Amino acid sequence: MPMDAVTTAGLSKTYHQLGRGAVHSVRDLDLVVGGNEIYGFLGRNGAGKTTTIKMLCGLVQPTAGEARLFGKPARDPAARAALGYLPEQPYFYEYLTPRETVRFYGRLRGMDDGAIAALWDRAADLLDLGGVADRRIRGFSKGMRQRVGFAVALVGDPPLLVLDEPMSGLDPLGRRMVRELIVRLRKEEGKTIFFSSHVLGDVEEICDRVGILVDGRLVFSGGMDDLPGRDMKRTELRVAGLSRADAADLAARAAGHAAGDGGDTFTAADGDAANALAAEALRRGGRLLEFRRAQESLEDVFTRMQHAETTGGARP
Ligand SMILES: Nc1ncnc2c1ncn2[C@@H]1O[C@H](COP(=O)(O)OP(=O)(O)O)[C@@H](O)[C@H]1O
Ligand SMILES: [Mg+2]
Repeated sequence: MPMDAVTTAGLSKTYHQLGRGAVHSVRDLDLVVGGNEIYGFLGRNGAGKTTTIKMLCGLVQPTAGEARLFGKPARDPAARAALGYLPEQPYFYEYLTPRETVRFYGRLRGMDDGAIAALWDRAADLLDLGGVADRRIRGFSKGMRQRVGFAVALVGDPPLLVLDEPMSGLDPLGRRMVRELIVRLRKEEGKTIFFSSHVLGDVEEICDRVGILVDGRLVFSGGMDDLPGRDMKRTELRVAGLSRADAADLAARAAGHAAGDGGDTFTAADGDAANALAAEALRRGGRLLEFRRAQESLEDVFTRMQHAETTGGARP
């Protein structure tokens, strides 16, 4: 069995701020991220994701507990050598080009020119940076900057990548690019990827496991399918061409309904109910435009978790 990439035990951080008193940013966090795993670290803004990541990277000293990378203390240089880090707001020397930037960080890591050139070729290919290799970063879009940030994180070929909100601020195409990249890095390069997000949709397709942080506390860690209430497969269908009366009729049988320019969208509690609704809509002359599993937000999950707690289906 490969060694766990990240382990934390009782990891805690309390900040003391003038006027705000003690802020318990991270509380008693026990995490295990296996080798070659994709782990999504979810939480609202202010939940403590960045603070946790900074402790993993040895940038912030824990108040209590410890973090280890491949068994070594996070502040140990040997642990850091195994880590590639993409900060939430990566900073670049604006007058350098992506190629120069990678060379700069390669030199810092003690790589020779041949190794740096090979690294650049691989990163440019993975990240599609070839076309902008020799253009100054100044003037790059957020999405292009994110790719350069990835290239920097790959310098030294670390087995573990820690990415702080790698999809935030990107458009849907950019988000997809990052998702696909994470999947490739795991599959083709054998990397372990730990990344944070406040958007459920960013993690659900690609993560083996997710952790959910609420007010600094890990309230869930496991597979997406183990999230409370996940088996209630809410399904959405969008239908055009229904009369108002028929739409209202169907809405009465659905779990949810919204009318819009692109037709009526109905939500059904599960796949069978959705099929029944679809059949009824077709019978009444409607045209089925879309049929898909309902998009769930992190807030939906929180609501269900709270519900599960109050109705006895509690999880730690
Ligand atoms: N350097 C700091 N000094 C004081 N408080 C901080 C500091 N960094 C983070 N915090 C506080 O810790 C909490 C968690 O922040 P953060 O880890 O940035 O959350 P997230 O990344 O999930 O949005 C917030 O209440 C934030 O204000
Ligand atoms: Mg953050």
